[in-house]
Amino acid sequence: MKMASLLLHSRLCVFSAPYVTSSNSPRGKCHEFSVQLPRKTRPMAVRSTAEHSQQQPQQSSEERGTKKKSKGSTSDAEKGIDPVGFLTKLGISHKAFAQFLRERHKAMKDLKDEIFNRHLNLKEMASGFEILGMHRHVEHRVDYMEWAPGARYSAIVGDFNAWSPTENCAREGQFGHDDYGYWFVILEDKLREGEKPDELYFQQYNYVDDYDKGDSGITIEEIYKKANDEYWEPGEDRFIKNRFELPAKLYEQWFGPNSPQTYEELEPIPDAETRYKAWKEQHKDDPPGNLPPLDVIDSGKEYDIYNVIIDPIWREKFAAKRPPIPYWLETRKGRKAWLKKYTPTIPHGSKYRVYFNTPSGPLERIPAWATYVRPDAEGNQAYAIHWEPPPEMAYKWKHSSPNKPKSLRIYECHVGISSSEPKISSFNEFTENVLPHIKNAGYNAIQLIGAVEHKDYFTVGYRVTNLYAVSSRFGTPDDFKRLVDEAHGLGLLVFLDIVHSYSAPDEMVGLALFDGSNDCYFHSGKRGQHKYWGTRMFKYGDPDVLHYLLSNLNWWIVEYHVDGFQFHSLSSMMYTHNGFASFTGDLDEYCNQYVDRDALLYLILANDILHALHPNIITIAEDTSAYPGLCEPTSQGGLGFDYYINLSVAGMWSSLLENTPDQEWSMTKIVSTLVGNKQYADKMLTYAENHNQSISGGKSLAEILFGKVNEQSPDSEGLILRGCSLHRMIRLITFTICGHAFLNFMGNEFGHPERVEFPMSSNNFSFALATRQWELLETGLHQNLFSFEKDMMKLDETERVLSRSFPNIHHVDDSTMVISYIRGPLLFVFNFHPTESHEKYTVGVEEAGEYQLILNTDEKVYGGQGLIDGNYYRQRTISKRADGLRNCLEVPLPNRTAQVYKLKRILRI
Ligand SMILES: *[C@@H]1O[C@H](CO)[C@@H](O)[C@H](O)[C@H]1NC(C)=O
Ligand SMILES: *[C@@H]1O[C@H](CO)[C@@H](O)[C@H](O)[C@H]1NC(C)=O
Ligand SMILES: *[C@@H]1O[C@H](CO)[C@@H](O)[C@H](O)[C@H]1NC(C)=O
Ligand SMILES: *[C@@H]1O[C@H](CO)[C@@H](O)[C@H](O)[C@H]1NC(C)=O
Repeated sequence: MKMASLLLHSRLCVFSAPYVTSSNSPRGKCHEFSVQLPRKTRPMAVRSTAEHSQQQPQQSSEERGTKKKSKGSTSDAEKGIDPVGFLTKLGISHKAFAQFLRERHKAMKDLKDEIFNRHLNLKEMASGFEILGMHRHVEHRVDYMEWAPGARYSAIVGDFNAWSPTENCAREGQFGHDDYGYWFVILEDKLREGEKPDELYFQQYNYVDDYDKGDSGITIEEIYKKANDEYWEPGEDRFIKNRFELPAKLYEQWFGPNSPQTYEELEPIPDAETRYKAWKEQHKDDPPGNLPPLDVIDSGKEYDIYNVIIDPIWREKFAAKRPPIPYWLETRKGRKAWLKKYTPTIPHGSKYRVYFNTPSGPLERIPAWATYVRPDAEGNQAYAIHWEPPPEMAYKWKHSSPNKPKSLRIYECHVGISSSEPKISSFNEFTENVLPHIKNAGYNAIQLIGAVEHKDYFTVGYRVTNLYAVSSRFGTPDDFKRLVDEAHGLGLLVFLDIVHSYSAPDEMVGLALFDGSNDCYFHSGKRGQHKYWGTRMFKYGDPDVLHYLLSNLNWWIVEYHVDGFQFHSLSSMMYTHNGFASFTGDLDEYCNQYVDRDALLYLILANDILHALHPNIITIAEDTSAYPGLCEPTSQGGLGFDYYINLSVAGMWSSLLENTPDQEWSMTKIVSTLVGNKQYADKMLTYAENHNQSISGGKSLAEILFGKVNEQSPDSEGLILRGCSLHRMIRLITFTICGHAFLNFMGNEFGHPERVEFPMSSNNFSFALATRQWELLETGLHQNLFSFEKDMMKLDETERVLSRSFPNIHHVDDSTMVISYIRGPLLFVFNFHPTESHEKYTVGVEEAGEYQLILNTDEKVYGGQGLIDGNYYRQRTISKRADGLRNCLEVPLPNRTAQVYKLKRILRI
C-alpha cells in the first residue's frame, strides 16, 4: 500500500520539481502554451493560490529562511530576539542609536511581509536564478525571463536569428510581462522532419541529463518491464504493469473511482498535508511494508523525489537499488534521444542579447542574469552566451568543500595578474600553477578578487557589469568550476570578493538604464551615483532588486560551490555620503540622516539567508566605518557577519615604515592598533597588508622595505637585513596577536618587491606590473622569506594559534621596544629595537616549566643571522615575579628579531 504514496510523489515530481516551469500545472502540456504565463511562472508566488498549495507543499514557518533564530515568519513569537541586544550586552547606552535599531527591526518585519507576499519563503526569494535568465526546460524548449518594467515589448536577438530585433527574433510562444514587469519568452525547440511531439506527459526528453538507457532509445514498455523485473519488490509493482494504468490509478488514489479522465476535469489537488492525512486515515490498518516511513515522505515539507528520503537507513536502502528511483519514475530520456527528435532552439554557445522596445527607443542589453558574457570581436558591445554544455562536456564536480576551519588563513588573489608573464592569466593557469603554491605555503582558503565579470580590466574587477557571470577574460564558467573544485581538493576554501555596494555605470553591458528608465536597478538622481567613483547605487529597498542581489549570492554557492564572501566597501552602500565622511566613533554617525537603512536591511537579510541556507558559509565585512554590530547576530541588532576586516589597521605598518624612524616606533600604539577594539577582536580578520596596499597606487611592505635590490652588492646587505627582519616580525605579530583569521595578498608571502599596476592609459597599457614574479621564489631573500612564511603557517596548523582565545599581552615596553604575549601554551617575544640586543631579557610567564623555542625569525634559513645559540633553545622558568605574573623566563633577544616559545613541561613547585 505504501507504493501508492510513493507514486503520488512521483506524480508531484513529474509535474513540478526539480524544474521550475510555466507548465508546472498538469494542464500545461509541453507544446500548448495556452497557459497565461505570468501568474504561474514569475518568481513571485502569491501564497494563497490553489496552484501553490497543490504543487509545493506549504513549508513550516521555521523553514522560511532563518531556522536557527526562528524569525523567518512574522507570525513567530519574537523569542530571543532583541533589536538592541548587542548594545545591552556591551553596556552601551545611546538613545538615538537604540531607537534607530528598534525602527530598523520594525522595518525589517515590514520588508519580510512584503517579500512573503510574493515569495513562498526566503529560499525561493534567493533562488531567482532558477527561473530568470535563460534556461532549458525539459519539455522541448528554452525559457527566458527578465525584469524590465520600463519596456513596451521584449525579444531575444542572437546569432541564431541574425541579430534582427524585428524579423526573426525569438519571440515565439508566449511572451509578455506580468504586473511586476517580468518578461517571459518561450523558445520552442524545432521538431525534426517527420517527427511527432510526445504523447505521454510524463515521458520527458531531457537535454541535460544523459541517461544512457534513454539515449539508446529504449521504449517505455521496456522500462516498465525492467522496473518490474529488477526494481520493485513483489507486490509493489501492480500499478506499473500498464503504463496507462499508472495515471489512472493515481487519479483514483486521489479522487476515488469516478476520477477525472482528462486534465481539464482535474480539480485543484488538495495540499500535501490534507492528502497525507486522508491517506493515513484510509490506510491505518495496513500491515507494515518495507518502503520508507510515510511520515518522512509526506510531511508536507519534502516534495522533490530526490529529497524524499531523508531517513539515513532508507536513503541507503534506496541507493542500493539500481538504477535509481527517479530514473524509473520520471522515465526521462536522454540527450541523444532528444536530439534525434528535435533541433535545439538555442544551442550551447549561442550569442544573444535581450531587445527592449521602450518609450525612449529600442535597446539591446546584456541580460541582467546572464551567466557568461563575452566582448564582441572589436571588444565593443558584449553579448551573453547561452552556457549549457552537453553532459559529456559539462564539468563534473569531484570534491566537496573542506570543513570550516577554526582558524582561517586566507590567501587573497587575482587571477589575471597571477602569472609572471605580462598578460592576463587564466583560471586554468591559476588552477595549475598557483593553487599548488598556495597549498604549499600553508594557507587554508583563497579569496578571489575581480573574478566576477567587469568590462574594464583596470578597475581590478570592482566595476562589476554582470553579477552572475565569471569574467570571461579568464576562461569559461566550467574553467572556474574546475578552479573551485581543485581548490577544494587541496583543502582550500574559496571565498569571493563580491561587489554589491555599487555597480558599473555602463549601459551596454551593465545594468545602467537597463530598461530605458533610470531607476530600474538603481536610484535615480544624486542618490543613484556614488559621490566619488561615478558608479551606480542599487535601490536596496526594492524587492525586485533584493531578489536580484540575494539570488546572486546564493547563485555563486549553488552553481560554483563558493564557500564565502567578502562584501566589498560596505561604507559605500551604508551611507548616502558613500562613506566619505570622518567617523569619530560617535554613534550618531551610524544612525543619522545619511544612513541608508535599506542597505542595512539588505545586509541583514543577506546574512540571514546565507547562513540559513548554507550553514557553513562565511561572510566577511569590509567596512572602513566600523559599523556597530557588524558581526553581532542579527537577532541581537547586529548585521550578522562572521568576520570583519578592520581597514584602520591597514595603513599602520606602511605609515610607520614610511614616516617614523625605527627607534621612535611606539609599541603601545602598535599593539593597540593591531588589537583594535578588544570587544570585537575575535571577529577581526587581521592582515599586515591586503591587495589595497599593492594595488591602489600604494606600495607593498617589501617595496617600502627593500624594493628591487641587488642582493649581490655588499652595499645592500644592511638594507636587506633590516628589511627582511622587519618583514618577518611584522607578519608574525600581525598573524598571532589576536583574532581567528589572517589574510595575505598574493606575492607578499615572499616579499613581492613591486606593486601592481593594471594596464591603463597612464602606463601605455603596459602589463609589466600586472604580474607576480614567481621566479623570485627560487633563490635569495625571497626564498628565505617564503621559508619563514611556510613555517609561520605551519605554526598555526600544528599549534592552533589562531583558534585560541585572546592572548594575555603582558609586556609592552616602549623604551626597550619589546612586546610579549602569551596565547595558550605559546609565548611570543618581539624586539623591535633597531640596535639594542639583550642576552637575558626577562618576560613574565604564567606556568613554571620548560619552554622550547619553536620559531625564531633570526634563523639562517629565513635569512636571519642565527644569533641565538642552540643551547638556549630550551629554557627553564625562574620563580620570580615579572609583568605581574608569578614566573619568568630570561630569553636571549637580539635586536629586530622575534621568538615563539612553547611550554613543553610544567613544573609543579
Ligand atoms: C579598528 O581599528 C582601529 C585602530 O586599531 C580601532 O580604533 C577600532 O576600534 C577598530 N574597530 C573595530 C570595530 O574593532
Ligand atoms: C587603499 O590604499 C590607498 C593607497 O595606499 C589608500 O589611500 C586608501 O585609503 C586605502 N583604502 C582602504 C580602504 O584601505
Ligand atoms: C607612452 O608612450 C609614449 C609614446 O610612445 C611616450 O611618449 C610616453 O612616455 C609613454 N608613457 C609611459 C608612461 O610609458
Ligand atoms: C642589530 O644592531 C646592530 C648594531 O648594534 C646592527 O648592526 C644590526 O644590523 C642590527 N640587526 C638587525 C637585524 O637589524
